[in-house]
Amino acid sequence: MDRRKFITRTIGGASLLAVSGVNNPYAWGQSNSDNKLPAILGGAKSHHDMWPEWPAWKTAYEEKVLEVLRSRVWSRAKVTAEFEAKWAELIGTKRCLSVVNGTSALIASVSQFNIGPGDEVIVPPYTFIATIQAVLLNGALPVFADIDPRTFQIDPAKIEAKITSRTKAIIPVHILGIPADMTRIMAIARKHNLIVIEDACQAHLAEVKGKRVGSIGDAGCFSFQTSKNMPIGEGGAITSDNETFMDQCFSYHNLGLPYGTQVGSVSGGGIRVGSKIRFTEYQAAIGLVQLTNLEKDTNTRWDNAQYLSKKIKDIPGIAPATLYPETTKAVYHLYPLLYNKDKFKGLTRNQFLESLRAEGVPCSSGYTPLYTQPFIKAAFESKLYQKVYDKEDLDYRNFIDKNQCPMNDRICNEEAIWMTQNLFLENKSSMDDIANAIEKIQANADKIVKKLRK
Ligand SMILES: Cc1ncc(COP(=O)(O)O)c(C=O)c1O
Repeated sequence: MDRRKFITRTIGGASLLAVSGVNNPYAWGQSNSDNKLPAILGGAKSHHDMWPEWPAWKTAYEEKVLEVLRSRVWSRAKVTAEFEAKWAELIGTKRCLSVVNGTSALIASVSQFNIGPGDEVIVPPYTFIATIQAVLLNGALPVFADIDPRTFQIDPAKIEAKITSRTKAIIPVHILGIPADMTRIMAIARKHNLIVIEDACQAHLAEVKGKRVGSIGDAGCFSFQTSKNMPIGEGGAITSDNETFMDQCFSYHNLGLPYGTQVGSVSGGGIRVGSKIRFTEYQAAIGLVQLTNLEKDTNTRWDNAQYLSKKIKDIPGIAPATLYPETTKAVYHLYPLLYNKDKFKGLTRNQFLESLRAEGVPCSSGYTPLYTQPFIKAAFESKLYQKVYDKEDLDYRNFIDKNQCPMNDRICNEEAIWMTQNLFLENKSSMDDIANAIEKIQANADKIVKKLRK
């Protein structure tokens, strides 16, 4: 939406176009001297601070969801099957299975590749907790391979040193919606006979050499949780070309009952240990409506993010994420920057974030290191781990030492800055506002440091 339409729609009017002033929240981007002064020092905001709401409300939901509700078929049936067929086609896999969330998609995939107690799984440290929980819930050991801080992704050069006789799988995470280096990761996995489960929970429609993530490894896992680029509230999906694996996953997601190649007789009951993590018809209905926007929104984010990256690449102390050369689309669930306070006269990251927010640009510092949370230690203290692993494996101090990820810690603790995907649904002039905000802060960093010191 452009600014003029935005104002007319949200605050009703032409008279407001004339309003300006330092304390006016709508006083952004005027071409006067305030425009050069950071908002935190009393200048005008770079942006009006009202970004597209997420999730977006679409009246089309009403018709589709009400149709399902009125049908009184609420548990998985034909709407779910239609959604799965469409998602598989979109990602480029033979099959898709919907499940209740991305976490369950990961747990089911790890379990149905028969990865469990005594096995090791290589994971990046820069991820959402669910990636690691999926490994622990199956009784396996997560092994962290550090990231390349320029890309925010698992560093393929650090994977091979982590492979042992117990390693069964790698879970590359396309974190922030930016594809990991799948060509190198797949080459390592094939060389060592390892399963690859892509955690694509943040990366709907991201591409490597024109191939969508979630179709490159042995399986892909997606999340449709509210914040995601394809929101359903909660929801998830597993994608794969491996029909037997997908039949196993289907059986697992339906209490271990027979399905497809996973034969038995329904009257004979369950054939494997399974959970009950089925999608509902109304989730599928929302999903089908979301699919009508996803490609367009994805392309808008990709265009805007590339435009912003170009605009800010020469600002000292700020670096947009580097994409691997084979990336043909990054989907920027989160748009990341690397911040170097030394190039900002010692302005700390938190002070920079405060200054950027004052400009009307929402932002955060992102993840904190996962090992600072007690959950891995709790798994090690559980009955299962105590029975399966030896003392050395379960010595948490030793585990932390072996799994040091200094690059991850550096970006978590000092350098990473995130902006959420909805900012990138706006137009180029909003990207100019973000760039202008960063430039203003950079040019006045010494003054901001002084002001915030007081
Ligand atoms: C990288 C990553 N993996 C897994 C998940 C888990 O997905 P969900 O929240 O749908 O369970 C998420 C979502 O938040 C995620 O960002």
